[in-house]
Amino acid sequence: MTKHKVDHDAIREKMRHNGQDPECWKEFYDDWAGKYDAVFESVNWITSKTCRIAELMAKHVPLDNKVLDVACGTGLSGENLRKVGFTKVDGHDISMTSIEVAKEKVYEGKPIYDNFKTGLIAADKKIDDIPDHYYDSVTCSGAINQDHIRVGDALTEFHRIVKPNGYAVFTAKSHAEVPFLSTIEDMMQEKKIELISAERQIYHTEGGFNHYCYCCVIKMVPVYN
Ligand SMILES: C[S@@+](CC[C@H](N)C(=O)[O-])C[C@H]1O[C@@H](n2cnc3c(N)ncnc32)[C@H](O)[C@@H]1O
Repeated sequence: MTKHKVDHDAIREKMRHNGQDPECWKEFYDDWAGKYDAVFESVNWITSKTCRIAELMAKHVPLDNKVLDVACGTGLSGENLRKVGFTKVDGHDISMTSIEVAKEKVYEGKPIYDNFKTGLIAADKKIDDIPDHYYDSVTCSGAINQDHIRVGDALTEFHRIVKPNGYAVFTAKSHAEVPFLSTIEDMMQEKKIELISAERQIYHTEGGFNHYCYCCVIKMVPVYN
C-alpha cells in the first residue's frame, strides 16, 4: 500500500477553518477520498483498528435489520458491518467522491452497500429522500463531533429516520462530552430515547497521544398517543 505522510498541522488548520461551516466538509472529504483509508490507517483510527461499533450493533440489532451507515465515507464502517454479518446496509455521506470509493468496495464478492443517500446533517438540514421511520436501525462512526455532525442534530435525525424500538449505535468524540450527555439527557426526559450504554474507547492516536470517544447505544422509545 502507498505510504501517505500525514501533515497533522495542515489538517488541524483546515479543520479549524472548516469547522466554521459544515458545508466545507464536503469539499474536504471529496479531496481526501482517494487517500482516506491509508491516512486513517496510519492514525490508529477506531474504524480501521477495531470493529467495536459493528460489534455493538451485532450485540443489540438483528442482523437482518435494514441499516443506514450515516456518514459512511469510503466504506470502512460498512465493511465492518458486513464482517459481523449485517445483510441490508445502505450508506450515506455528503461527500460524493467518498461515496464513489465506497461503491467500488466489496465484501465476500458483494457490494458493501445496497443503496446510497446523501445530504448534510445540520441544525435545519436532514438527509435527502428518507421518509420518517424508514430504517430499522442506524449507525455512525467517526462523524459526531464539534466540527462535523453535532450530537443534537445527529440524534434528532436518527430519531426521525429510525423505527420505534430501533437502535442508533455511534461514536461521539469525547470533547463533545458535555453537550453529548446533556443532549441525551434532554431526549431521555422527553421520552424519545433510552441510553443503553456509552463506553469510552480510543478514537485515534496522533503523535503518540490518544484521543478518545464514547461508543454509544441508544434505543428509540415508541411514542404512545
Ligand atoms: C472521519 S469520516 C468517517 C467515515 C467512516 N464512517 C469511517 O468510520 O471511516 C467523517 C465523514 O463524515 C462526513 N460528514 C462530515 N460532516 C457531515 C455532515 N454535517 N453531514 C453528513 N456527513 C458529514 C464526511 O463527508 C466524512 O465522510
